[in-house]
Amino acid sequence: MPLAIELKVPKDTDGMLVHKLVQSCPPLDTNSAYCNLLQCTHFADTSVAAVLDEQLVGFISGYILPARPDTLFIWQVAVSDQTRGQGLASKMIQHILQRANCEQVAFIETTITESNEASWALFGSMARKLEATLERSEMFEKQAHFHGEHDSEMLVRIGPFTC
Ligand SMILES: CC(C)(COP(=O)(O)OP(=O)(O)OC[C@H]1O[C@@H](n2cnc3c(N)ncnc32)[C@H](O)[C@@H]1OP(=O)(O)O)[C@@H](O)C(=O)NCCC(=O)NCCS
Repeated sequence: MPLAIELKVPKDTDGMLVHKLVQSCPPLDTNSAYCNLLQCTHFADTSVAAVLDEQLVGFISGYILPARPDTLFIWQVAVSDQTRGQGLASKMIQHILQRANCEQVAFIETTITESNEASWALFGSMARKLEATLERSEMFEKQAHFHGEHDSEMLVRIGPFTC
């Protein structure tokens, strides 16, 4: 990852930049600008912004599961086309895990569609780095949960680990 990339806790004025970045990162689903603003405020402590030359080049939205405070749920990972393949997504996940508010975190969860090879590679690699097991199961099914309008989302659970 280029040294000049800075990883930061997002701030409220990043919301619209996140919105544009996610739009440029298929197959990610876009959310409303309002949702991105909440990610950059209420969920800022478990999210990360990557900045290069004053441009937002990466973003992870995440939150601690309300009922299971040992689990960081990673909602979306977006890395701009020109900064991919340099370890940025992995570094962003590690950056969140190293924060004081994640001290109790021993598991990561996320969901991935079967066809998203880059995402499977990223979380497979994270499991190896954390020396933890990766379990997968179906969380949201194409017909039952998406009425046929979206592919099934597989739940990935990594852990336990210490960071
Ligand atoms: C998925 C994504 C976030 C990866 O970002 P990145 O910064 O390039 O990822 P990293 O460089 O940290 O790579 C992490 C691992 O995944 C592998 N990987 C990344 N992209 C890959 C691809 N397209 N195909 C195969 N492997 C890939 C890397 O080789 C690396 O493995 P290693 O640690 O064993 O060497 C980025 O491609 C992206 O934004 N894609 C579009 C949005 C998306 O699908 N997000 C994920 C769903 S939430």
